[in-house]
Amino acid sequence: MKSKGIRIRETKESDLPVLGKHQSKLIAFEKPFDETIKEGNTRYYNPRSCFNSKDHYMVVAEDKGKIVGSGFCKTAKEPNWSKNKKRGHIGVLFVEKEYRRKGIGKMIVDELINWLKKRNIKDIRIQAYSKNTNAIKAYKKYGFKEHVLEMRLA
Ligand SMILES: CC(C)(COP(=O)(O)OP(=O)(O)OC[C@H]1O[C@@H](n2cnc3c(N)ncnc32)[C@H](O)[C@@H]1OP(=O)(O)O)[C@@H](O)C(=O)NCCC(=O)NCCS
Repeated sequence: MKSKGIRIRETKESDLPVLGKHQSKLIAFEKPFDETIKEGNTRYYNPRSCFNSKDHYMVVAEDKGKIVGSGFCKTAKEPNWSKNKKRGHIGVLFVEKEYRRKGIGKMIVDELINWLKKRNIKDIRIQAYSKNTNAIKAYKKYGFKEHVLEMRLA
């Protein structure tokens, strides 16, 4: 397997600095896809607030102790009209450039899906900018199907 030696594990508080770096790199990567992302320091979420939360699960991919990827998922209440009570959201998926296309993204997503399925979550969502064609290809490869098209007038 291309991702030999890679271990997926739950994040610890000592991983926070790396999670912060991954988040900054992800924002820089996505900036060309979204002109509404602020200049300078900004963040999508606060990883610290996800610790000790029963609704969140954060993982990292480790190569001999070096963190080379990360991702998180959360459970959220479904709208009233839904048949389901809760749905799962997978997000902030990031793999370091030199480690991409080795199946690490899939290992991270599989671990998050398993965590959600153990909580009986049947509806699992993941989002990508429509111009992020590599991420879209990866998600389709992992089994996700296109479902909602968000459009924007600006
Ligand atoms: C998206 C991302 C997490 C995928 O991680 P990964 O470890 O490279 O993914 P995997 O190895 O599991 O799957 C790779 C698959 O994605 C697609 N893909 C990814 N990068 C690609 C590229 N540059 N060209 C073509 N296909 C690509 C292919 O289907 C590929 O499968 P293949 O290698 O067998 O052809 C990683 O590319 C990344 O961190 N990108 C930058 C940040 C980002 O876009 N995050 C997601 C935000 S929605």
